[in-house]
Amino acid sequence: MKYIFGNWKLYLNNEESLYLAEQLVTIPVEKNELEVCVFPNALSFQAVKNVLVSSEYAIGAQNVNWTPRGAYTGALSAVLFKEVGATFALVGHSERRYVFGDTNEDIRHRFEACVDARIAPVLCIGETEDDKENGKTEYRIKKQLMKVFENMDLDDTQFFIAYEPVWAISQGGSGKACAPEDAAQVFSLIKEELKQYTANDVPLIYGGSVNAKNVESYISLEGVSGVLPGHASTKIEDLKQIMEVVLQIKK
Ligand code: PGA
Repeated sequence: MKYIFGNWKLYLNNEESLYLAEQLVTIPVEKNELEVCVFPNALSFQAVKNVLVSSEYAIGAQNVNWTPRGAYTGALSAVLFKEVGATFALVGHSERRYVFGDTNEDIRHRFEACVDARIAPVLCIGETEDDKENGKTEYRIKKQLMKVFENMDLDDTQFFIAYEPVWAISQGGSGKACAPEDAAQVFSLIKEELKQYTANDVPLIYGGSVNAKNVESYISLEGVSGVLPGHASTKIEDLKQIMEVVLQIKK
């Protein structure tokens, strides 16, 4: 099984989100071979869901808060997202961590809230440029996994790990791509680390400036089940080509 998680971030307004969803549903996809999920902004979520509803495309939340309901001004819970049709949620995206200041503890709460609400969390981890330059990639990855998973029972949990080097995530389409060999090393580290938290086979996803030209080099990596394009997923031609390449790669 392969996965494409299209993170639309805050790139599109309501009308543009709807238009993209309408174009998307004209592209046939076999859900048993390829799961494609898009993550629109929270205000466009329901309208996009209505477009996708009788299609094979899934919809997910870019971020969830952990308390189901109560006096939490501005919050949107995992339970609410589940009610309106989310099957996946991004958790700990680097823009949440480094722009909005989410801590590892917050991320653990968000992860747990998704599991409780029966939404599959896509836990995003990755080193910053500073980490990389100071030889701290391994330290960062291990720490991010440990802070979320220590003493957590993951046996019955469906979840995903997205490795997204922070320095490779584009700011509007122009990012430094990570060398596939470097990504491969981190994926084997993640696989090794995960053994202490779960015996399950956790699907691993790559993200960071993925586009139609380089997607093959990431999806071909051993143990990688999918990609998480951001900017490229907001353009129908790019997204379509990414889907075609991902489907072609035999594993
Ligand atoms: P990008 O975003 O593909 O635009 O680099 C990926 C992400 O942040 O998830």
